[in-house]
Amino acid sequence: MTVTSLPESTIPVAIRKAAPEDVPSILAIERATNAAAHWTAEQYQGRVQAGYCWVAELALAGELGGEICGFLCAHVVADEWEIENIAVVETRRHRSIGGKLMEALIGEWKQCAGAVLLLEVRESNVAARALYAKYGLREVSRRPRYYDHPPEDAVLYRREGSDRTVVPLAGV
Ligand SMILES: CC(C)(COP(=O)(O)OP(=O)(O)OC[C@H]1O[C@@H](n2cnc3c(N)ncnc32)[C@H](O)[C@@H]1OP(=O)(O)O)[C@@H](O)C(=O)NCCC(=O)NCCS
Repeated sequence: MTVTSLPESTIPVAIRKAAPEDVPSILAIERATNAAAHWTAEQYQGRVQAGYCWVAELALAGELGGEICGFLCAHVVADEWEIENIAVVETRRHRSIGGKLMEALIGEWKQCAGAVLLLEVRESNVAARALYAKYGLREVSRRPRYYDHPPEDAVLYRREGSDRTVVPLAGV
């Protein structure tokens, strides 16, 4: 598929699981993104090897296989999934790339019958909070002054798996 003649806003984006060789690109995006959590290459390699890291790849050079323009990492313990880090290259934002990364994660979370999806985010991070709300996460609590530089509350978001049913206790 040749895509070089497409306008910038319609360049295709593919979401796929990250491979070990994507970690330098992930780190470069993270380092350029103040609002992202900051990790070492080894920490990213761990998430990639666990299979809970996705990347968004643009088709810049005529074929898919071009620039990595976003990533999402999650940590999974039993049926509890935590979104730990998501970032899109600043010049590529507002083109549904963050949303597509969320859809890839949520698709797999549902497929695995995940019970809970959760995360924490700075109170002032309007874009990320709107993104999470759009994908069904709801604010459940706060941790006062959880973050430093600058000090700020963390807002905790949570979504329950749709197959979870509450069974009333007998005799209550
Ligand atoms: C949050 C982030 C990943 C969104 O990526 P994106 O590709 O621009 O997001 P999308 O274009 O897919 O937008 C999806 C939704 O997010 C919300 N959103 C995204 N940017 C927004 C902004 N600047 N203001 C308000 N809402 C915004 C909207 O609800 C949007 O849906 P809509 O287009 O139907 O209105 C991106 O802004 C980013 O990388 N921010 C810095 C890193 C960060 O804050 N990570 C979170 C740390 S917890």
